[in-house]
Amino acid sequence: MITVVGIGPGAAANQTRAAVDAIKQAEVLVGGTRHLAEFPHFSGETHCLNADMDGLMQWLEQNQHRHIVVLASGDPLFYGIGKRITAHFSGLQADGQNIRIISGISSIQYLCARILLDMNDIYLTSSHGRKPDFDWLLQHEKIAMVTDDVIGPYQIAEEILARGQQRRMVIGENLSQENERIVCLNAEQVAQRGDINYGLNVVVVLNER
Ligand SMILES: C[S@@+](CC[C@H](N)C(=O)[O-])C[C@H]1O[C@@H](n2cnc3c(N)ncnc32)[C@H](O)[C@@H]1O
Repeated sequence: MITVVGIGPGAAANQTRAAVDAIKQAEVLVGGTRHLAEFPHFSGETHCLNADMDGLMQWLEQNQHRHIVVLASGDPLFYGIGKRITAHFSGLQADGQNIRIISGISSIQYLCARILLDMNDIYLTSSHGRKPDFDWLLQHEKIAMVTDDVIGPYQIAEEILARGQQRRMVIGENLSQENERIVCLNAEQVAQRGDINYGLNVVVVLNER
Protein backbone atom coordinates (compact mmCIF):
# COMPACT_ATOMS: atom_id res chain seq x y z
CA MET A 1 0.00 0.00 0.00
CA ILE A 2 1.30 3.42 -0.94
CA THR A 3 -0.05 6.26 1.18
CA VAL A 4 0.72 9.80 0.12
CA VAL A 5 0.48 11.93 3.23
CA GLY A 6 0.07 15.70 3.27
CA ILE A 7 2.07 16.98 6.23
CA GLY A 8 0.91 20.58 6.06
CA PRO A 9 3.25 23.57 5.96
CA GLY A 10 5.76 22.03 8.36
CA ALA A 11 5.02 22.33 12.06
CA ALA A 12 3.74 19.23 13.82
CA ALA A 13 0.76 21.22 15.14
CA ASN A 14 -0.56 21.49 11.58
CA GLN A 15 -0.48 17.77 10.84
CA THR A 16 -3.77 15.91 10.90
CA ARG A 17 -4.37 12.90 13.15
CA ALA A 18 -4.78 10.78 10.00
CA ALA A 19 -1.35 11.89 8.75
CA VAL A 20 0.36 11.16 12.06
CA ASP A 21 -1.28 7.72 12.33
CA ALA A 22 -0.33 6.77 8.77
CA ILE A 23 3.28 7.78 9.40
CA LYS A 24 3.41 5.77 12.64
CA GLN A 25 2.22 2.67 10.78
CA ALA A 26 4.65 3.07 7.86
CA GLU A 27 7.30 0.51 7.10
CA VAL A 28 9.12 2.89 4.79
CA LEU A 29 9.00 6.69 4.88
CA VAL A 30 9.78 8.44 1.60
CA GLY A 31 10.35 12.17 1.37
CA GLY A 32 12.68 15.07 0.69
CA THR A 33 15.40 15.79 3.25
CA ARG A 34 13.36 18.67 4.71
CA HIS A 35 10.27 16.48 5.09
CA LEU A 36 12.07 13.48 6.57
CA ALA A 37 13.75 15.78 9.10
CA GLU A 38 10.29 16.51 10.58
CA PHE A 39 10.10 12.87 11.74
CA PRO A 40 13.36 12.23 13.61
CA HIS A 41 11.76 9.53 15.78
CA PHE A 42 10.63 7.38 12.87
CA SER A 43 12.46 4.10 13.35
CA GLY A 44 11.65 2.32 10.08
CA GLU A 45 13.43 2.53 6.75
CA THR A 46 13.68 5.93 5.07
CA HIS A 47 14.09 6.67 1.40
CA CYS A 48 15.24 10.16 0.46
CA LEU A 49 13.63 11.72 -2.60
CA ASN A 50 15.70 13.32 -5.32
CA ALA A 51 14.75 14.82 -8.67
CA ASP A 52 14.51 11.40 -10.35
CA MET A 53 10.72 10.98 -10.41
CA ASP A 54 10.82 8.13 -12.97
CA GLY A 55 13.19 6.27 -10.64
CA LEU A 56 10.81 6.86 -7.73
CA MET A 57 7.81 5.52 -9.68
CA GLN A 58 9.78 2.41 -10.57
CA TRP A 59 10.87 1.93 -6.96
CA LEU A 60 7.27 2.41 -5.73
CA GLU A 61 6.00 -0.16 -8.24
CA GLN A 62 8.54 -2.69 -7.05
CA ASN A 63 7.82 -2.01 -3.37
CA GLN A 64 4.08 -1.41 -3.36
CA HIS A 65 3.43 -4.61 -1.36
CA ARG A 66 5.07 -2.83 1.62
CA HIS A 67 3.52 -0.13 3.83
CA ILE A 68 5.04 2.92 2.15
CA VAL A 69 4.28 6.48 3.15
CA VAL A 70 5.32 9.23 0.76
CA LEU A 71 5.49 12.61 2.50
CA ALA A 72 4.21 15.66 0.66
CA SER A 73 4.32 19.24 1.88
CA GLY A 74 0.97 20.95 2.34
CA ASP A 75 -1.70 19.01 0.49
CA PRO A 76 -0.40 16.25 -1.83
CA LEU A 77 -2.88 17.09 -4.60
CA PHE A 78 -2.14 20.79 -4.68
CA TYR A 79 0.92 21.07 -6.93
CA GLY A 80 2.40 18.16 -5.06
CA ILE A 81 3.66 14.65 -5.63
CA GLY A 82 0.16 13.22 -5.20
CA LYS A 83 -0.74 14.02 -8.80
CA ARG A 84 2.28 12.25 -10.27
CA ILE A 85 1.76 9.15 -8.13
CA THR A 86 -1.98 8.90 -8.76
CA ALA A 87 -1.50 9.44 -12.50
CA HIS A 88 1.19 6.76 -12.63
CA PHE A 89 -0.66 4.14 -10.62
CA SER A 90 -4.15 4.69 -11.96
CA GLY A 91 -2.78 3.65 -15.35
CA LEU A 92 -1.43 0.45 -13.84
CA GLN A 93 -4.35 -0.57 -11.63
CA ALA A 94 -7.97 -0.40 -12.69
CA ASP A 95 -9.24 0.24 -9.16
CA GLY A 96 -6.41 2.32 -7.69
CA GLN A 97 -6.86 0.27 -4.48
CA ASN A 98 -3.20 0.28 -3.62
CA ILE A 99 -2.98 4.06 -3.42
CA ARG A 100 -4.34 6.25 -0.67
CA ILE A 101 -4.05 10.02 -0.30
CA ILE A 102 -4.30 11.76 3.04
CA SER A 103 -4.98 15.44 2.57
CA GLY A 104 -3.07 18.10 4.46
CA ILE A 105 -3.29 21.82 5.12
CA SER A 106 -1.87 23.57 2.09
CA SER A 107 0.66 26.36 2.64
CA ILE A 108 -1.85 28.66 0.94
CA GLN A 109 -4.71 27.67 3.23
CA TYR A 110 -2.41 28.26 6.16
CA LEU A 111 -1.40 31.73 4.92
CA CYS A 112 -5.00 32.75 4.20
CA ALA A 113 -5.96 31.76 7.73
CA ARG A 114 -3.04 33.74 9.19
CA ILE A 115 -4.06 36.90 7.32
CA LEU A 116 -7.82 36.34 7.76
CA LEU A 117 -8.40 36.24 4.00
CA ASP A 118 -11.34 34.21 2.78
CA MET A 119 -10.52 31.86 -0.07
CA ASN A 120 -13.74 32.45 -1.99
CA ASP A 121 -13.07 33.10 -5.68
CA ILE A 122 -9.31 32.92 -5.21
CA TYR A 123 -7.31 31.69 -8.21
CA LEU A 124 -4.81 29.10 -7.02
CA THR A 125 -1.69 28.39 -9.00
CA SER A 126 2.03 27.72 -8.89
CA SER A 127 5.28 29.06 -10.27
CA HIS A 128 7.14 26.11 -8.80
CA GLY A 129 9.14 24.72 -11.73
CA ARG A 130 6.88 26.43 -14.26
CA LYS A 131 6.15 29.84 -15.67
CA PRO A 132 2.53 30.88 -15.17
CA ASP A 133 0.71 32.92 -17.80
CA PHE A 134 0.77 36.31 -16.05
CA ASP A 135 -1.53 37.96 -18.62
CA TRP A 136 -4.20 35.44 -17.71
CA LEU A 137 -3.40 35.45 -14.01
CA LEU A 138 -3.63 39.19 -13.61
CA GLN A 139 -7.18 39.14 -14.90
CA HIS A 140 -8.07 37.73 -11.48
CA GLU A 141 -8.66 39.96 -8.49
CA LYS A 142 -7.34 37.47 -5.98
CA ILE A 143 -4.50 35.05 -6.70
CA ALA A 144 -2.44 32.77 -4.51
CA MET A 145 0.59 30.89 -5.66
CA VAL A 146 3.25 28.54 -4.42
CA THR A 147 6.61 29.63 -5.79
CA ASP A 148 10.23 28.61 -6.16
CA ASP A 149 13.67 30.24 -6.33
CA VAL A 150 13.28 31.09 -10.02
CA ILE A 151 9.88 32.82 -9.91
CA GLY A 152 9.33 34.21 -6.44
CA PRO A 153 7.98 37.47 -4.97
CA TYR A 154 10.44 39.73 -6.82
CA GLN A 155 9.76 38.21 -10.25
CA ILE A 156 6.00 38.24 -9.63
CA ALA A 157 6.20 41.95 -8.73
CA GLU A 158 8.15 42.63 -11.93
CA GLU A 159 5.52 40.83 -14.01
CA ILE A 160 2.80 42.97 -12.41
CA LEU A 161 4.66 46.23 -13.01
CA ALA A 162 5.64 45.23 -16.56
CA ARG A 163 1.91 45.23 -17.34
CA GLY A 164 1.45 48.68 -15.83
CA GLN A 165 -0.63 47.25 -12.99
CA GLN A 166 -0.75 47.82 -9.24
CA ARG A 167 -1.31 45.04 -6.72
CA ARG A 168 -0.95 44.32 -3.02
CA MET A 169 1.24 41.30 -2.32
CA VAL A 170 1.23 39.21 0.81
CA ILE A 171 4.38 37.12 1.11
CA GLY A 172 4.35 34.26 3.58
CA GLU A 173 7.78 32.79 4.30
CA ASN A 174 8.67 29.65 6.25
CA LEU A 175 5.06 29.27 7.27
CA SER A 176 4.35 27.54 10.57
CA GLN A 177 8.06 27.49 11.38
CA GLU A 178 9.84 29.48 14.10
CA ASN A 179 11.21 31.85 11.47
CA GLU A 180 7.81 32.45 9.86
CA ARG A 181 7.50 35.92 8.32
CA ILE A 182 4.43 37.42 6.69
CA VAL A 183 4.62 40.81 5.00
CA CYS A 184 2.11 42.83 3.01
CA LEU A 185 3.58 45.22 0.43
CA ASN A 186 2.77 46.91 -2.88
CA ALA A 187 4.23 45.29 -5.99
CA GLU A 188 6.40 48.40 -6.38
CA GLN A 189 7.88 47.97 -2.91
CA VAL A 190 8.65 44.30 -3.61
CA ALA A 191 10.26 45.15 -6.98
CA GLN A 192 12.52 47.72 -5.30
CA ARG A 193 14.02 44.99 -3.09
CA GLY A 194 15.65 42.62 -5.57
CA ASP A 195 18.38 42.01 -2.99
CA ILE A 196 16.13 40.09 -0.58
CA ASN A 197 16.60 36.33 -0.47
CA TYR A 198 13.22 34.97 0.49
CA GLY A 199 12.89 31.69 2.33
CA LEU A 200 10.36 29.06 1.28
CA ASN A 201 7.34 31.19 0.39
CA VAL A 202 3.86 31.56 -1.01
CA VAL A 203 2.44 34.76 -2.42
CA VAL A 204 -1.07 36.18 -2.40
CA VAL A 205 -1.73 38.91 -4.97
CA LEU A 206 -4.71 41.20 -4.43
CA ASN A 207 -6.25 43.81 -6.65
CA GLU A 208 -7.56 46.33 -4.16
CA ARG A 209 -8.77 49.00 -6.60
C1 LIG B 1 5.90 21.56 -4.74
S1 LIG B 1 5.05 22.90 -4.00
C2 LIG B 1 4.01 22.03 -2.93
C3 LIG B 1 2.82 22.80 -2.42
C4 LIG B 1 2.08 22.01 -1.37
N1 LIG B 1 1.50 20.83 -1.90
C5 LIG B 1 1.01 22.81 -0.63
O1 LIG B 1 -0.15 22.39 -0.62
O2 LIG B 1 1.37 23.81 0.01
C6 LIG B 1 6.28 23.52 -2.93
C7 LIG B 1 6.03 24.96 -2.61
O3 LIG B 1 5.04 25.06 -1.59
C8 LIG B 1 5.27 26.24 -0.84
N2 LIG B 1 5.46 25.86 0.58
C9 LIG B 1 5.41 24.65 1.12
N3 LIG B 1 5.59 24.70 2.45
C10 LIG B 1 5.75 26.01 2.77
C11 LIG B 1 5.98 26.74 3.97
N4 LIG B 1 6.08 26.12 5.15
N5 LIG B 1 6.10 28.08 3.91
C12 LIG B 1 5.99 28.74 2.74
N6 LIG B 1 5.79 28.10 1.56
C13 LIG B 1 5.66 26.76 1.58
C14 LIG B 1 6.52 26.88 -1.41
O4 LIG B 1 6.11 27.80 -2.40
C15 LIG B 1 7.22 25.69 -2.04
O5 LIG B 1 8.16 26.06 -3.01
